[in-house]
Amino acid sequence: MPPGPVRALEWRGDHLALLDQRLLPHQTEWLRLETWTSVHDAIRDMAVRGAPAIGVAAAYGLALAAIHQNNLITAREALAASRPTAVNLVWALDRVMSLQDRSFESILAEAQAIEREDLAMNLKLAEHGASLVPPGSRVLTICNTGSLATAGHGTALGIIRTAFAQGKVVHVYSCETRPRQQGLRLTAWELLQDGIPFQSVADSAAASLMAQGRIDFVVVGADRIAANGDTANKIGTLSLAVLAHHFDVPFYVAAPSSTLDPSLVDGSNIPIEERDPTEITEIEGVRVAPDGCPVWNPGFDVTPGSLVTAIVTEVGVFRAPYLFN
Ligand code: MRU
Repeated sequence: MPPGPVRALEWRGDHLALLDQRLLPHQTEWLRLETWTSVHDAIRDMAVRGAPAIGVAAAYGLALAAIHQNNLITAREALAASRPTAVNLVWALDRVMSLQDRSFESILAEAQAIEREDLAMNLKLAEHGASLVPPGSRVLTICNTGSLATAGHGTALGIIRTAFAQGKVVHVYSCETRPRQQGLRLTAWELLQDGIPFQSVADSAAASLMAQGRIDFVVVGADRIAANGDTANKIGTLSLAVLAHHFDVPFYVAAPSSTLDPSLVDGSNIPIEERDPTEITEIEGVRVAPDGCPVWNPGFDVTPGSLVTAIVTEVGVFRAPYLFN
């Protein structure tokens, strides 16, 4: 199935255009990024987010560094540190830095290949994932794993889109995804455009949905998958996996192979980004918590591979024991 109309980014001749996801769904504003530092800031501040999309953006960041004859190693180091958890970022940067020819033309071609290949991987993994979905399924997902988070189509949301097109998914429950609400703001926006029936739910409604037998499977994306299948993804994912295990609901992880990090034997050493306390204490810029309220705000959690029914990549469907290398 062809990708939908939503795009997170676009190379436009001499600059990177980024759809500013901080403003969605009410404003669709494209940022014009002309330097690698502006790409760095856009990734850090989450104007672009989602593991594969930040990898693609970072690769274009190196193309911008090359245009301006900036030091590529400095740019690579800073871009790699802009968001620590998603391994796709370092994967894309290393792919560009391993080029023999680091001219602008060659780096741009590599960034474009990374973007093209990400879309192709998503379409492929969505086919594999959809083959797991029985007709009439109601699915629960978290965060945004769609076209906005990737070069197109999406990972977990890509599976949902393909399975819906095949008539297998009949209803989606989309977790709001506190604190930044990627589910409520972004996934809902994509699902509405696709005409896929859904309801947004508070993250804390997941247990009731499963207890009432209203979820046939859970599918989530990933930011980094260790060799044994331990999976870092948006904070709240682990709760869904534990619930799914308790209620005997299949729990699937969807990701392109660029999200695998076989250098880590398990998830214990995955760096987990801690984000600004104001994401918790404020809602839409309005302070809700009392002054002086202490906060812990990890952006991601790690789900043990033992709780994952299957990991779906463009290569196929993997089941435990996971032995990625
Ligand atoms: O903090 P975000 O919005 O970048 O987190 C995104 C996620 O956790 C996604 O599930 C993951 O990156 C996979 S996106 C295809």
